[in-house]
Order: sequence, then C-alpha cells, then structure tokens
Amino acid sequence: MAKILVNNSGPLEGEVKISGAKNAVLPLMAATLLTPDTCVIDDVPDLSDVMVMRKMLESFGAVVSMSDPGKLSVNAAEITTVEGDAELVSQMRASTMAMGPLLARCGKVVMPLPGGCTIGKRPIDLHLKGFKALGATVTEDLENSSIIIEAPKGGLVGDAIYLDFPSVGATENILMAAALAKGPTILENAAKEPEIVDLANMLNKMGAKIKGAGTDTIRITGVDELSGAIHTVIPDRIECGTFMLAAAITRGKVLIRNGIPGHVRPIIAKLKECGVSVNVDEEGILVDATKGNLVATDIKTLPYPGFPTDIQSPFMAFLTTVEGTSVVRETVFENRFMHVVELNRMGADISTDNSREATIPGGKQLHGAKVRSTDLRAGAAMVLAGLVATGTTEVSEIYHIERGYEDFVGKFKSLGADLMRVEEHDV
Ligand code: EPZ
Repeated sequence: MAKILVNNSGPLEGEVKISGAKNAVLPLMAATLLTPDTCVIDDVPDLSDVMVMRKMLESFGAVVSMSDPGKLSVNAAEITTVEGDAELVSQMRASTMAMGPLLARCGKVVMPLPGGCTIGKRPIDLHLKGFKALGATVTEDLENSSIIIEAPKGGLVGDAIYLDFPSVGATENILMAAALAKGPTILENAAKEPEIVDLANMLNKMGAKIKGAGTDTIRITGVDELSGAIHTVIPDRIECGTFMLAAAITRGKVLIRNGIPGHVRPIIAKLKECGVSVNVDEEGILVDATKGNLVATDIKTLPYPGFPTDIQSPFMAFLTTVEGTSVVRETVFENRFMHVVELNRMGADISTDNSREATIPGGKQLHGAKVRSTDLRAGAAMVLAGLVATGTTEVSEIYHIERGYEDFVGKFKSLGADLMRVEEHDV
C-alpha cells in the first residue's frame, strides 16, 4: 500500500489550478445512462472514483472512452443488464447513482446494498422514498443483500416528494428518475449543493425540464426521452477549500485559479474570522496567511450553503495551529471525527465528548508521526498537518486521498511542499 511522507515545508507559495469536481462528475456520468445517445463530459478529473464509475457504466453495457485527457465519451444505447456489480458498489457508495437512471430508462434496477464507510452508516432510505413516491416498488433480497426496484408497468409517475434531510445523493437520484417520469414532480427540502445545479444543467441540455435546482424546491416535468449532451464539469469546491487551507496552515500565500468563489463562501468567511487575508478577483482566489497572528474560530458543518462537512477535517488541522480554543461541530455525518485520534498522535490534544463535537486547544507545534487516512478528506487533513509538523509525517492508506484529489502530491510539490509518495516496500 502506498504512503505519503511529508516533511515540515514552511510557507507554501505559488498558484494551483483546481480540477473538475469529483462530486459533480460522478452523478454526471450516471446520468449518461438515461439516453441511448452519446454524452461527452469535459474536465473530468483523473481519479480512482472516476475509474470505478466508468467500470460501473461499462458493467451495464455502456461504451466509454476518453478521447483526450479529461474528455469522457459515454454511449449507453445498449443496456445489457440492470444489476449492479457488488464489487464495484462496495468500492464506492456513489455507484448507487445508477439507480435513478436505470429505473427511469429500463423500469428496473437491482443494486447491492452499499456498504457504510468510516464516516457513518450512510443509508439510502431517502433515495428509496423518492422512487416509491414515483410509483416504484422496492423489495429486499436479503440472501444477496441487494434491493430490487421496479417501476409500474406504464413507467414512473411524477409526484410530490419531501426529503426528511436534504440528501445530496437522494436529490440527484430522484432528479434523474423524475426526468423521465410521466407528469410533474416537485421535490421539497432538496439539497442545494453546486453539484446538484451542475447535474440539473446537464440534464436540461439532454432535454429534461428541471427548474429550481440550487434551491430547496425543485420542479421536474417528465419527458418521454432524453438525448445526448456535451457538458463541462464544475471545478471542485472541496479541492479548492483544501488548497485554501494549505496556504493558511503553512502561513503561505497561494493563488487558486478557476475555483468558484461563490461555492466556497463559508470557507472564505471562516478563514477571514481567523485573520487570514482572502482576496477574490478575475485571477482567482488569493489566500495570504503570511501576516500570521491567526486566531481561533468555531465551525459547525451544515448542508450547503452552510459550512461543508468535507472541509471539516482539513479545517480542524488548521485550527490546531492558531492561538486559542476552537469548537468544531459535525452535524451531517454521525462519525466523522476519526481524524481526531490521528491528529492527537501529532500532539494536537483535541478532545471530543461524542462524535459530534470536538474542542481544539490550538497554539500547538505538531510533531511528525505515523498516521492513517481515515477518509479521503481526513487523509488530506493529515498531509496538511504534516506540512507544519516537526520532522516527518507518514500518511498511510492514501488510496482514500487518490479517490478524490487529482495529482495531489504534484500540486502540493508545485507550491513548495516537501512530500513524496512511496510504496510500502520503499519505506
Ligand atoms: C455526498 O454524499 C458527497 N459524495 C459527500 O462527499 C458529502 O460529504 C455529502 O454529499 C454531504 O455533502 C458525493 O457526492 C459522491 P448525503 P451523500 O446523502 O450523497 C444521511 C467526499 O468526501 N442520509 O447528503 O452520500 C447520511 O447518512 C464525500 O467527497 C440518510 O439518512 O451524502 C448522512 O448522514 C464524503 N438517508 C447525511 O444524510 C439517505 O437516504 C448526508 O448524506 C441518504 C443520506
């Protein structure tokens, strides 16, 4: 298994270009199953999750090719099966994004139940609630731990759906299913993330009739069929936030090109509260922490447009280095503090009275240690901590990081970070 060795790197300086968003490209790829025509998706990041989704599409019979770097072409004219591949689903929860498109296009889908992961049990009850509201029946095949979802004989029928929680995945799956349902669907308490808007934009290019994406009420008027489209993925706001924090934690100065400021407002606001200078202009987002004297702040993660849960662990790493005590509350996932133990191995001295609230005393000089990536964002957080720790930090299980960050090591090196990727036997 590969690791990343990180040495104390001093202030990062320079500029970095943000890649296409992992959490946008995965649903966009799933949406190509909705049409027999060819779809072309541009700015696709080179990530292991994208490779898994490509294999998922091919397992259903789609023909997938990468004509130029980042340009993915998918043709799902022939759907050869509606049964999800258990191995692929176990590798990546986002494989469940195929449920909505296959149910809408083929009238049936059999999906192995996605495993939970380190950040929580991550059920799909809200996805299934949406499909049932559109007339589908859901039966559990306990023997094969999978679910069978079937549309009525005449196809899905639009209806009103209320999401108990603004689930990103459920919103995306329901959007894709309702796009081909008969009649109107109104989705209330929908997720408002930019990735939802990106998906709705591509679906509308394909001929769907979706209004209100990005608000908590989305109206979909079903159509009989969808055609192909050409679409460019939005930049990755979580990668953008990660590099903003890399500048902040190292007290450096980094220009982040092509990140969308409107997608990272909570991160800009919180960094400013800590005393970091953040300027936005046509060049990009300039994060300047060279003036130092940074202070603590409190963080509470919420669905968009609140503070993003995916930036919670990188921000916590940063908070260990500023003067004063911070409190971090995680409200989206029930177990997303696994990185606390790892940061404490480096001397962070963080305490948590449950898996929802952590107290960070701050003002720490972290020291290098052997630490794990407990999820992809926590892995990035450990690298950030390693940049300012004394000595060398060895971050293992970096396959998590490579799921969601394109050229992670290369981009950090271009900013002056002293780190390297090594295979287990090299260490
Ligand atoms: C998406 O996951 C992202 N993944 C996650 O990013 C992100 O953290 C999350 O949204 C929240 O923003 C992708 O887009 C591929 P949810 P998703 O459904 O769709 C509960 C990363 O690091 N819930 O909004 O799985 C669930 O248990 C990843 O890039 C139900 O109870 O998130 C969780 O507590 C991590 N029932 C909360 O909602 C359901 O049917 C948020 O889940 C669905 C979700």
